[in-house]
Amino acid sequence: MELNNVIIEKEGKVAVVTINRPKALNALNSETLKELDYVVTELENDEEIYAVILTGAGEKAFVAGADITEMKDLNTIEGRKFSILGNKVFRRLENLEKPVIAAIGGFALGGGCELAMACDIRLASDKAKFGQPEVGLGITPGFGGTQRLARLVGTGMAKELIYTGKIIKADEALRIGLVNRVVEGEKLMEEARAMAQTIAANAPIAVKLSKAAINRGMQCDMDTALMYEAEAFGECFSTADQKEGMTAFVEKREKSFQNK
Ligand code: CAA
Repeated sequence: MELNNVIIEKEGKVAVVTINRPKALNALNSETLKELDYVVTELENDEEIYAVILTGAGEKAFVAGADITEMKDLNTIEGRKFSILGNKVFRRLENLEKPVIAAIGGFALGGGCELAMACDIRLASDKAKFGQPEVGLGITPGFGGTQRLARLVGTGMAKELIYTGKIIKADEALRIGLVNRVVEGEKLMEEARAMAQTIAANAPIAVKLSKAAINRGMQCDMDTALMYEAEAFGECFSTADQKEGMTAFVEKREKSFQNK
């Protein structure tokens, strides 16, 4: 597939995915969503990639939302279809069997905030701004905002942000738990790469199973969730990397994981 709006670059075991429509502040139109869907498949199938960084091109924005120009004249059926497309792609990203770090350097509004929330970890620059301004456009959040924001920051705070549509700065996003960490603007990608490399140096199957256990467990009761954890834990003992990790510890030597 020819990619016009998304760039994928491989740096050893880390892939950097950039939403690249800087003139429209990386707004997500259908074409970009379809390209992102394709990129998720590529990442899924690439056995050499152990961690992913997702970012936006340019100085100003991570992603300034779904594309308002494209949405303006949609009817009910088309609106639902657009929401289903975004939700499908973001859900695939959320369930990708590799950790995804969102590196947010500027505006993460509407669909942009929703995209960041579909990632595992959010690193923000001190210039980043967040919000769900949809109601000011006459619509609800449509790419998971009503659900993921409430799960991340609690229903009260999610309702405040969504009903008011207010835009918050990075320090406030950190305070309410919307982002994991705030770093100086120039250091954003450096920090994201360092974190991705730290993750990629660990046993990839154990990281993958941890992600699945957390994601699945958050959607069910504690007893079922702990069964998922026990399943994941048990599965690790069928891997060469578990033998290697523990043997290297006992032999006091460097470990070398094979993703097996
Ligand atoms: N869709 C389409 N184009 C967008 C856009 C969006 N979400 N956000 C910005 N752009 C475009 C602007 O139209 C402008 O294009 P032109 O140069 O052709 O006029 C360009 O990007 C630069 O934007 P501004 O001139 O507006 O830049 P600014 O610095 O003055 O303002 C901003 C920045 C505050 C982020 C402002 O662009 C803005 O408010 N954007 C819209 C944010 C928004 O409402 N996002 C939610 C969209 S709805 C949604 O996402 C629904 C969903 O949940 C699925």
